[in-house]
Amino acid sequence: MNKEDSTYHYPVMLSECIKALNINPDGIYVDTTFGGGGHARAILEELSENGILVAFDQDPEALENAIDDERLILINSNFSYIKNFLKLYKTFPVDGIFADLGVSSFQFDNARRGFSTRFDGPLDLRMNPETELNAGDIMNRYSKEKLKQLFKQYGEIKNAGHLTNMVDNYRKNQEITRTAQLAALAQKCAPRNRVNKYLAQVFQALRIEVNQELEALKKLLGSSTELLAPGGRLVVLSYHSLEDRLVKNFFKAGNFEGEIKKDFYGDPQTSFKVITRKPITPVEKEIEKNSRARSAKLRIAEKK
Ligand SMILES: C[S@@+](CC[C@H](N)C(=O)[O-])C[C@H]1O[C@@H](n2cnc3c(N)ncnc32)[C@H](O)[C@@H]1O
Repeated sequence: MNKEDSTYHYPVMLSECIKALNINPDGIYVDTTFGGGGHARAILEELSENGILVAFDQDPEALENAIDDERLILINSNFSYIKNFLKLYKTFPVDGIFADLGVSSFQFDNARRGFSTRFDGPLDLRMNPETELNAGDIMNRYSKEKLKQLFKQYGEIKNAGHLTNMVDNYRKNQEITRTAQLAALAQKCAPRNRVNKYLAQVFQALRIEVNQELEALKKLLGSSTELLAPGGRLVVLSYHSLEDRLVKNFFKAGNFEGEIKKDFYGDPQTSFKVITRKPITPVEKEIEKNSRARSAKLRIAEKK
């Protein structure tokens, strides 16, 4: 594919992620977020003919990017079911689990999916179009209290109450079904010099709720403890602080609150050795080439 094509997905921090996985060529690896297959392709390049890569994507459209390779098992499912599938395919314990969270450029740049504030499209934002709830349903049916909480918690929006009042007054007369409708409403509440950032926060909040992103991440992290072989790596690329906090706390403490519990000898009771005390972030040159990389944070842990 031509890299100048707007639908091309640049794999973020590709060499850093591959190095982080510390790949054993004969090992079993899992790419939980296949997307355009950029990271998956690079993992396959490191594997011998005995190696296996199991990949997941909940978006059936991502499967159109499938790589023709006998070592790849590509599964159209939410990664929260990782344990069921690895058991089904008898591909565990595994040597590494990788996650590149969020949406791909294929999804983001497609107006029909509703992820971008730049184009008008249906207010959908589902990664898996089979799930029931889309963003429009949330905007039109959630109570004022629930909406406000969502904007506050998932969008980290300071004037969530003001935005919710605007939305509630609008929806009394007209359903909110298009991204452009929501963008126009939110724009009125945004600080004048931070309109784009504000819109991104509003859409982020909806995306997290629609796709139950934090719940899925918690399930993935929890399952990885059981699925990884000793010395196996868990490598996570996240794009906002809510995800990064869960990953950081889980690596450090084995729980999502980050409370370290000590054993009888005073040693922390965790299943992981943290490889990255501070997250790895992309170099300036990568951000210039791919603005999506700007907020990326890479964390690595090793199963004890
Ligand atoms: C950032 S993209 C991955 C891009 C990929 N690393 C590449 O190089 O092309 C994230 C992908 O993960 C998928 N995804 C996000 N959350 C998921 C989940 N809970 N279960 C399965 N797939 C998920 C999205 O549908 C999207 O295709």
